[in-house]
Formats: sequence, structure tokens, C-alpha cells
Amino acid sequence: MARLILSSKILDGLDFGAPSAERDIGRGLEKCFVESATYNRVHSGAKTVLLGNRGSGKSAIFQVLAKRERTAGNRVIELSPEDYSYELLSSTMAAENAGAWAKHGAYAAAWKYLLYVLVMKEVARKGMRLAKGAGADINAYLRKNHANVQMGRISLLISYLKRLENIKLGPIEAGAKTRELDRLYNLEEIHSLLPALQKVLDRQRVTIVVDELDRGWDSSEDAKAFVAGLFQACVSVNNLHPNLTVCVSLRRELYDDIPALYEDAQKYRDLLETIRWSEDSLLELIAKRIRYSAREMGYDAQVLDRADDLTCWNAVFAPVPGGPVDGSFRYVADRTLYRPREIIEFCTTVLEVARDRAPALPLPFEMLRPAERGYSEERTKDIAAEYRFQYPGLLGVFEVFRGRDHTFDREDLQLLCLELVLGDVPTNGTSSWLPARDPDGLIEVLWQTGFLTARPVGDAAPAGDGREGFIGVHQVQHLNLAAVQRFQVHPMFRAYLGMRIG
Ligand SMILES: Nc1ncnc2c1ncn2[C@@H]1O[C@H](COP(=O)(O)OP(=O)(O)O)[C@@H](O)[C@H]1O
Ligand SMILES: [Mg+2]
Repeated sequence: MARLILSSKILDGLDFGAPSAERDIGRGLEKCFVESATYNRVHSGAKTVLLGNRGSGKSAIFQVLAKRERTAGNRVIELSPEDYSYELLSSTMAAENAGAWAKHGAYAAAWKYLLYVLVMKEVARKGMRLAKGAGADINAYLRKNHANVQMGRISLLISYLKRLENIKLGPIEAGAKTRELDRLYNLEEIHSLLPALQKVLDRQRVTIVVDELDRGWDSSEDAKAFVAGLFQACVSVNNLHPNLTVCVSLRRELYDDIPALYEDAQKYRDLLETIRWSEDSLLELIAKRIRYSAREMGYDAQVLDRADDLTCWNAVFAPVPGGPVDGSFRYVADRTLYRPREIIEFCTTVLEVARDRAPALPLPFEMLRPAERGYSEERTKDIAAEYRFQYPGLLGVFEVFRGRDHTFDREDLQLLCLELVLGDVPTNGTSSWLPARDPDGLIEVLWQTGFLTARPVGDAAPAGDGREGFIGVHQVQHLNLAAVQRFQVHPMFRAYLGMRIG
């Protein structure tokens, strides 16, 4: 394979990007964007709910989509954390048991109201040529009802919820109550404007992206109703017009934490799109970054474009001495759960270490190791934090593996898990979930969170790949865990936990 030689000067300007897409968008994300089938399905509106782990690229998809839509002259409304506060919701809204007021339905109605009002405001913005009759109706409504509103978006939603709550829980005669509720649930205030809005949408595309719903997530009744209601509202708003699309992103664990969603999975299945990465696409991501940085530093674009992804990688990170040509890349990829943020962080840490020692490119393989320790610690703690609502105290469970061999026979692992479940090996803060598991249930949790990898039985195990056929939850969609006889702790966690080769 051709070699690419990058001077040490490139090392100074090399930038793998900011760890989150919101900041990365100003740092080359669009130019370095890896365009996947997932992106295309979301952009085309074929899929409107984007599921993915933390750091898997949900915001990146929305950021690039928003930028491209705007460039094409279309309108984009972005809803993000400042716009919702779960604490505020919980402290403002009455609890469900204060009158069984069917929160989900109320939240769904309030979301629909908010989304429609936002779209109307957007299309009525200055400089828009509104269709004559239709535009006039919408403008009149906005002037009358939302004129001096510097009102935040969330306040608009809350005010609608409050209207519902007051009628539900208030001292109103039963018949009147039903009528009033019907009016609110049917969005009577804006219902007559929807045909006008459809007309406007004939000529104007509007996309709403709702991102970062997990920020500040507290797993409360209101938080769950907020998200479940949003899903319901999306389905209905997306039916108004092909030129109006609402897209939502959600972390996988959050989705699993909301019974109203997965119990209704049937209803949402064909909207869901899950982000998945492979080794190849992660390599592509890093190679794009390397080419981009080198080009920014004046390196010949043609030479860079001729170099394939692995060549670019190896120009920065030398292969393992005496190992395969993709050895150093696989070493890094093996220490991730296939999420872009992980590989960006690992590579960035290596660069920082390397800059202190000021060597030349490519960086020798040994340079990966000092970076790995800190990276491993951070990832272990982050993963535990990610699951703090489902499996509080998970870090303590990980800690039990400290200093052990990293490979386990099923029986040994079951024994250790039994001790954990029974509390013979004590852990803190796990009482809400751990004692309720059996050992296999705990193994399942450790597999699902990415902590354990498994060697599938039968011919699924690829021979001679240096990984002895162990794979993780990020690499397979279905695995018969019950049949697995050998497990390993995922390499990402090993450096921090000081694990030994078994
Ligand atoms: N398709 C992609 N192409 C290039 N970079 C990406 C892509 N997806 C994610 N990234 C980068 O990976 C990092 C994490 O992505 P982000 O969208 O912030 O994750 P999430 O929102 O899912 O937590 C960011 O630096 C982002 O720019
Ligand atoms: Mg994000």
C-alpha cells in the first residue's frame, strides 16, 4: 500500500474535532461528516425518531441536516435543552395520583400545540411570502394570541398543560368539563388554521429537530410523560404535510426507561432509526479528520485524496511493530463501543500526550498506552453514569472485577455474579435492581451495557482475528447469551480496572 508521509508540523494542527456535535459544527464537522444510510433516511423524512447511545452521533446528524436545509432555503426549528427543564415540569405540574389526569394525553396535546405554533411563527417570520388568504389568517391568529410573547417555548407548552390541568382537577361541572377538555385536546384554538398552514407548506419546507432530550433527565413521571407525549405529537404533526417534518433523537436507555414508549413499540417501530457504526465507518471518520487538518495546513489535497483511510491513519499512528497493517487502528477501535465520541477522545488524548513529548509522525504504537489509562478510567465512569437511572451503583459492580483475569468461563462468572446478587460481595447503591436479578440476569446487564463481551457458540466465531472471537453488544444485534460459555471484560474497561490476561 502507498505510504503517506506527514511532517511533524501537521501534528500541531491535527484536530479530531470537538467531542460534541454542537461545538464540532464550527470545527469542520460538515466537511468531515460521514454520511450514512441512517442520515439519509432521517433527512428524507422516512425515519423521524433517531435512537443512539451517548456519543454515537445523534446531534451530528441533526446539526448537518439543519445546516443543509437552511442552505437550501428551507426553514429549521431547533429545540434543545434550554427549551425543556424536567425539574421545572415536575415542580409545576400536579402529580398523576392527584387526580389521574392522564398525563400522557395532556402532554401530547400540549406538544402538538407548541409544535404547530412554532411552525406558524416560523413561516410568518419577516421576509416570508405567505400565501395570501392563508397567511392572513395565520398572521391574525399570531398577532392576537402570541403577539408580545417573549415567552419561552417551554412556557408555551406548560401554559397549555396548565389549562388542561385546571379543567381536569378544577371544580367544574362534569358535562362542562368534558366539553372543555375536548376543545383543548382537539386544539380547537388552532384547529381551523391547519388548512391554511397546509397551503403555506405547499411552498415552504419546515423541519423541526428535537435533540438532547436526555440533558437533565430525572426519570420522573413528568419527564417520561413529556417524551412519550412528544412521540405521540410527532406522529400526528408529521401527518399534516409532506413538507413538515419533526425529528426527535433519544438515547437508547431513555427509550427503554419509558414504559409508555416500548409498550407502544408497535406504533413507533417504523419511525425508529438506530445509529450503528462499524470499524470501517469509524476509520473513515478519523481519516476524514486527518485529511481535513492536513489540507488546512497546506498539504497537497490531491495526495491526500489518493490516500485511502488506513493509509491516513497509519500516517499518524504507526502500526504495531511486527503486527498487521491495521494493528494500531484495531487496537483503538477495540477499546471503543463503536461510538464516534470515543474514538475522537482516544485519538485526541494520544495527540496531547504526543505533543508533550514532541515526536515526529507517525506516532509510535507505545504512545497509545499512556493515553489509554486515562481514557479507560473516564469511559468506565461515563458508562456507569449513563446507566445511573436503570442500574444505580453500576460502577461499584465494575469495580468488583478489578485486578482479576479478564476472561471468564461461564461458571466462574455465574459464581461471581451470584455473590454480587446475594450481596456476599457488597456493592453500594444497587439495592433497587441488583438483588432482584439472578446471576444470568446480571450477566445480561453487563452485556447490555457493553462491559462484557461474549464468544458465540458455533461457527459465528471468526478464527484468527486476534480477538479470539469475542464480540460485544455494539457488534451484534442478536446473540443467544444463554448458550455462551466464555466471556471477557471489554478491553475499554481493562486498563482502568488493572485486569490481567486470563
Ligand atoms: N456522521 C458523523 N461524521 C463525522 N463526525 C461525527 C459523525 N457523527 C458524530 N460525529 C462526531 O462524534 C462526536 C459525537 O457526536 P454527537 O453527535 O455529539 O453525539 P450524540 O449527540 O449522539 O451524543 C462529535 O464530535 C461529532 O461531531
Ligand atoms: Mg448530542
